[in-house]
Amino acid sequence: MRIRRCTLLRLESSEETHFDLEALLSGGTGVVSRMRWLAYAPALEAPMELEADEVALLGQVSPTDWVQAAPVRQRFGAASVRRLLRAGLLVGSTQPWASAREEDERMRALHWHGVAADYHRASRWGGIDAAGEVEEAGLHNAEGLRSAYGAPPPMLHKRADGGATTTLPWATRTAFDDVLDARTTCRNFDAGRMLPLAQFAQVLERTFGERGRVHGADDFDVLKRTSPSGGALHPTECYVIARRVEGLAPGLYHYRPSEHALQALPMDPARILASAGKHAVAQDMGALDYLAWIAVGGQPYFAKAHVLCILAPRFHRNFWKYRNHPKAYRVCILDVGHLSQTLLLSATEAGLGSYVTAAINEIDIERALGLESWSESPLAVCGMGPRANRMETYELDPNRRIWPQ
Ligand SMILES: Cc1cc2nc3c(=O)[nH]c(=O)nc-3n(C[C@H](O)[C@H](O)[C@H](O)COP(=O)(O)O)c2cc1C
Repeated sequence: MRIRRCTLLRLESSEETHFDLEALLSGGTGVVSRMRWLAYAPALEAPMELEADEVALLGQVSPTDWVQAAPVRQRFGAASVRRLLRAGLLVGSTQPWASAREEDERMRALHWHGVAADYHRASRWGGIDAAGEVEEAGLHNAEGLRSAYGAPPPMLHKRADGGATTTLPWATRTAFDDVLDARTTCRNFDAGRMLPLAQFAQVLERTFGERGRVHGADDFDVLKRTSPSGGALHPTECYVIARRVEGLAPGLYHYRPSEHALQALPMDPARILASAGKHAVAQDMGALDYLAWIAVGGQPYFAKAHVLCILAPRFHRNFWKYRNHPKAYRVCILDVGHLSQTLLLSATEAGLGSYVTAAINEIDIERALGLESWSESPLAVCGMGPRANRMETYELDPNRRIWPQ
């Protein structure tokens, strides 16, 4: 048999500390620490602790060139080679390892940059009630933050090494300024009203719809949208959790930019509710309500939106061009930022409240939508709908464009 190392692997030298009563009684602080090696790889659900000789083994085996397993077994022991094969950190050439090998080859063909892959994995959440945790820590408002962390860096920045200042002319206000100034993150949706289909459709059309296309080469068409996209690839898909839209059945949908249509997606309540047991507040929620709540990290004011749009790049479309590129993941994130701003301004212009959040439970969303996270995964969720008449949850509207005095 021949072996090679898996495509993506990160090793971390990590310090583990724990309290030990004996260490305290024998005159120490009671805090005992030890260093350990942790492996992170797409095949691993959780980081795996490695022995020093396994680290040395992985350091010797190429991720690209196959080598004979026998000399590696002889040097590091057959048990270590087997353990690393079972974990998917080594890939084997023979039949018993075929499915792990195919999975590793699929990963290789996606062209992830190693550090970007680490960041992608590290920044995904599952089943987290972030809003609850922040509130419990007292970090949900300005006073709490100020008292926990002291004063933040100043609001405005002045360069000490700068020269003279040139005052710029103020622009003449147009209707566009009114839209820009009225955009305010909405945390107060009116659950008693329906979102008119025409307004909802207009926001989707303006944000995600096809505004044109260019035939670049055989099998290579380029979509034109109102937002820019790195490499003109527009890898970002919009998935919709529709809850209260006139004429649209509540459910999950995928937006199709060319047809300006929503395709209904299957909904599996058991899969959606998989993490619900962890949260007392979610016990009586139906699948769609729970998905909306967990999708936005347990933020109840955002979960109340009439529609939630999940912005999920198909990374492999971007990485097809920017192969193993250190900036490719950043470009996907920036693409989503542009789309979200277009969505917010379109919703504002339509008289709707809207928001964007990155405090999302990617793992729950992927499970609900059947996405494989290395190929396609959400980076942000936007919501929209008619605003409530009363502000119950705080919004930043110092110039009173939304909320009267
Ligand atoms: C990337 C991003 C993530 C955000 N995530 C959250 C969030 O999780 N919860 C929230 O209440 N607001 C969130 N916001 C909204 C900001 O809090 C808001 O933009 C800020 O307070 C300024 O208010 P404004 O949008 O009304 O101007 C997010 C904004 C951005 C751009």
